[in-house]
Amino acid sequence: MEKQLDPRRMPAHVAIVMDGNGRWAKGRGLPRAAGHRAGMEALKEIVKRSDVLGIKHLTVYAFSSENWKRSREEVNGIFRLLVVYVEKELAELHANNVRVSILGEWRELPREAVEALERALETTKDNTGLQFHIALNYGARNEIVRAARTLAAQAAEGRIAPEEIDGERFSACLYTAGIPDPDLLIRTSGEERLSNYLLWQCAYSEFVFMDTLWPDFTPERLEEALGEYQRRERRFGGR
Ligand code: FPP
Repeated sequence: MEKQLDPRRMPAHVAIVMDGNGRWAKGRGLPRAAGHRAGMEALKEIVKRSDVLGIKHLTVYAFSSENWKRSREEVNGIFRLLVVYVEKELAELHANNVRVSILGEWRELPREAVEALERALETTKDNTGLQFHIALNYGARNEIVRAARTLAAQAAEGRIAPEEIDGERFSACLYTAGIPDPDLLIRTSGEERLSNYLLWQCAYSEFVFMDTLWPDFTPERLEEALGEYQRRERRFGGR
């Protein structure tokens, strides 16, 4: 562990925007799919280190609801990779007591991907270690709209009064129900945007932006981001 990291001040929840796979591949004269493959390798190491560091929740943005705009070839490649990832990694994730969960409209994904994800959820459902949340076909505005609809329907049916709708009830209708808000959000590749990721949940998160392209994001880089997080003072609107 990086010398200056304080194990007592680890964030409970780290969220990551894994950006830069395409540029990593382009820089090497490789197809974009090779970038995603390398990104998957990087992710494996980050999951392992997060667990070792005692982080309780890790959430990664693997496919946004806007990513459908990419070429069919690239989109299909990402889902094939997801199936390969589950096939290759599930046993180890399970052995490491990792619990997988999925955020987003993942049941709309291609059938093979849905089946692989169902296997991952079922196999790891009773695990008590790192909770590894994968955002797939995820968009935060849509998540918020869904929550509003759920609550509006409950109000229309007379099951709750509009005045009873508060932040807590709203949070309970998001994909992240029961998961603490991210303490730290990391985005790689030099982009400094949220891109429709966890808009509600990141209200008080610390943001760390790094120039590293995602496939080059090593556990050492993760520890650097954690070091930066620990050097900051969080105030949650107070003094
Ligand atoms: C962003 O890089 C990355 C994605 C949209 C896909 C993320 C996928 C992985 C990290 C690997 C797959 C892992 C799983 C679990 C499926 P980009 O393509 O936007 O890069 P660019 O901005 O350089 O073009």
